[in-house]
Parts: sequence; structure tokens; C-alpha cells
Amino acid sequence: MLLKNPNAAFTAYPTELAKVLNQETAQQSKQWLSSWPLLNPQGTPFWDMTGTAKALGIQSLWIKDESKRSDLGSFKALGAPNALINLILKHFPTLDPKKIFLGEYRDQLAEFAVVSATDGNHGRALAAAAQASGCPCTIVIHAQVSQEREEAIAAYGANMVRITGNYDKSVEEADRIAKQHGWTVVSDTSYEGYTEIPRDVMQGYGVMAAETVAQLDAQQQIPTHIILQGGVGGLAAGVFSYFWEQYGANRPMFIVVEPSQADCLYQSAIQGKPASATGSVDSVMAGLACGETSQIAWEFLQPSVDFFALIDDQDAIEAMKQLAHGEHGDTPIVGGESGVAGLALLNQLAKQDQLQAIGINSDSRVLIFNTEGATAPALFQEFTGLTAQEIVAKQVK
Ligand SMILES: Cc1ncc(COP(=O)(O)O)c(C=O)c1O
Repeated sequence: MLLKNPNAAFTAYPTELAKVLNQETAQQSKQWLSSWPLLNPQGTPFWDMTGTAKALGIQSLWIKDESKRSDLGSFKALGAPNALINLILKHFPTLDPKKIFLGEYRDQLAEFAVVSATDGNHGRALAAAAQASGCPCTIVIHAQVSQEREEAIAAYGANMVRITGNYDKSVEEADRIAKQHGWTVVSDTSYEGYTEIPRDVMQGYGVMAAETVAQLDAQQQIPTHIILQGGVGGLAAGVFSYFWEQYGANRPMFIVVEPSQADCLYQSAIQGKPASATGSVDSVMAGLACGETSQIAWEFLQPSVDFFALIDDQDAIEAMKQLAHGEHGDTPIVGGESGVAGLALLNQLAKQDQLQAIGINSDSRVLIFNTEGATAPALFQEFTGLTAQEIVAKQVK
């Protein structure tokens, strides 16, 4: 399903939005995060998928591959960690931001506790950043978070709390725990009266956009379309804002894709304000299974996203197999359930002969983001028949 957003405009990047998210602060985040040994110092690959582009009938298809960002396996390694550095600096302004994740201030931070809800990747990234800096960390997970995702977070030393409700209930529980103990919530979603930390999380995602622009520039390329997957909308806002500032009124077409059951951004576009999902909010795309739109993210998406689209779980599973097996002669890629959503949408539209509905034709150059690798390894193997290690071994170095 596809929805054209009547509020999207091709204008210069608005000054009001630039006060919240901007390239200068994204570059600063890049600097600060660069000292964290957990992150891949080379950034992440930018694959040119020539075979798949040909099969789709388009000029180019590029995949920015966040499975290689760090051992955490997703782009989320840039978000919560960036917010944590900013938060620590707010409370301890004399600290050197580049030394926080080297554990140099462990003693000072031993009582500075943080807490967050997660459906997996955000909590894992926060736990790893807290462990590196020496802050105690509690992560609240909901009933649908798999055992293997729970263990992956706990491996970074977080205190785990599991509730019986859904993701939105876990957000409420994290808030309650924080108030009870005087801890700070480091959430990737914003709600009434809570915007600063989610803003810093989104700004961290700008690091990925900055890298991508440099990779495009190196090839003297500008995409015509960028597709991003949506959970609460923070990823799309953090990345699209960077591209909007970069290309201004000549920006590419922006498209957001979500699971049909977790359509909060699609519903927000219909209502013209942050809205809730209408479905069960239970998708195999765990990272995108969010029922509520992030308020601050919506301020960026409403005026810029040209189309909102929905895909089914089966579309994602097919795209995972396609990438894992390197179909059409392209490099095999470790694309997790939420990571492959952009490709899944392109396949769905191509199958229905609908690519032209979002303005895609034989001259189009499309950029998508594989936002996670095998973050749930057993499920990944079940869906693709391969392990991440087997796929990486086949990649062209
Ligand atoms: C792998 C992956 N991709 C995309 C997203 C969507 O990000 P956001 O919730 O900021 O829209 C998430 C969120 O958890 C995720 O884990």
C-alpha cells in the first residue's frame, strides 16, 4: 500500500528544523563516536547492486550496509551512544567527549544510571555504550522480544526487566522505573515534554548519512530516491534531514516503508499529525514493530516524506533470502528482518508494476539502507538457510 503525502515540499532545508538537526552537529557526533573502539573505524560499505538494479529495470541501486557498523549488528550503534555522550556532558561538562567510551571516567559515572525500553537494537546499543563508559544500565523489554535478543543485550552488562505487555507498555515502564529511582531515560522515541534525548539519538544517525554523502560524492552520484524503514520515525528523520540539508530543493524523493501491522507513520500521514498504528504491531520486522510515532521525528517527516508505504512480513523474508544468496550476481549481504525493508518495497512495487507510482523509472538511482545484520542469528538462519559468517565469507573484499 502506498500513500502520497500532500504536505511534502521541495524547498530549502527549513531554518527551524536546522536548529534541531543539522550537518554540523552530525559531524561533531562523528568525531565523538570515532574514538569508540567498538565501531568499525572505516565506517560501513556502500554496495553497488548492479544486477538487482538491472532486474528492477532501474539505473542504480545502492545499499548502505549497517550490518558492518559494529558487533552490535545495526545502525543503532550510532544513536543511543551519541545521546549518552551528550547526556553525560550535560551533567559533567568538563569531561572530554572522546574519552567517555574509553572508560576513563568510570568512577565518576558509577552512580549515573540510565534506563530504556527497546525491541532489541536500541537497548543493545545503549547497554554497550553504558558499559563502555561505566554507567549502570537497565533495559526494559516487552513480551515479544525473543530470548536471543534479550541475551544479546544482557551480554553488555545491562540489568534486564521483562514485562508482559507490548512495546508501548515497556516505554511506560521504563519511565516509571526512572522516576522511582531518579535515573535518566535514554529513549529513541519522543513524547510530550521529552524531546532532547531522542533528538540526540536521531542526530547520531546523521553520522551514517554523512558517510553516505561522502561515498556518493566519491562516485559523483546523487540518488533520485531514498527509501528508509520506519519504526517510530527517528531513523528516517535523522537521515532524511541530512540529505535535505545537503541537496535543498533539489533533494531526492523520500519514501518511508513500514510493516502493515505497525503503520503509525502511514497513519500519521493520513491524519496530518503523530498517530498510532492500527494493526497488531507484531511483525517479524521487530525493529519496526512500533505503535506510536515519535513526535519530534514527525516534525521532520511531515514536510519531507513524499510517500509512505506498507509491506508484509513475507516481503521482508523474501528480501532477506535474496540478499543473503547474492541474487542477480550481486554481493551477498547480511540483511536482517528490519534491514531489508527498502528492498522488500522495491520488489513488491516491481511485482505489481507500480514502481512508476513513486516516480521510479529506468533512469532512477535508488538508495536504500540495510539497517541491521543477523541481530537474531537463529531466526536469520531459519529464514535464509545461511549464517552471517557464511555470507561474509563470500563477499568481495
Ligand atoms: C534494524 C532497524 N531498522 C530500523 C529501525 C527504525 O528506526 P526508528 O524506530 O527510529 O524509526 C529500527 C528501530 O529499532 C531497527 O532496529
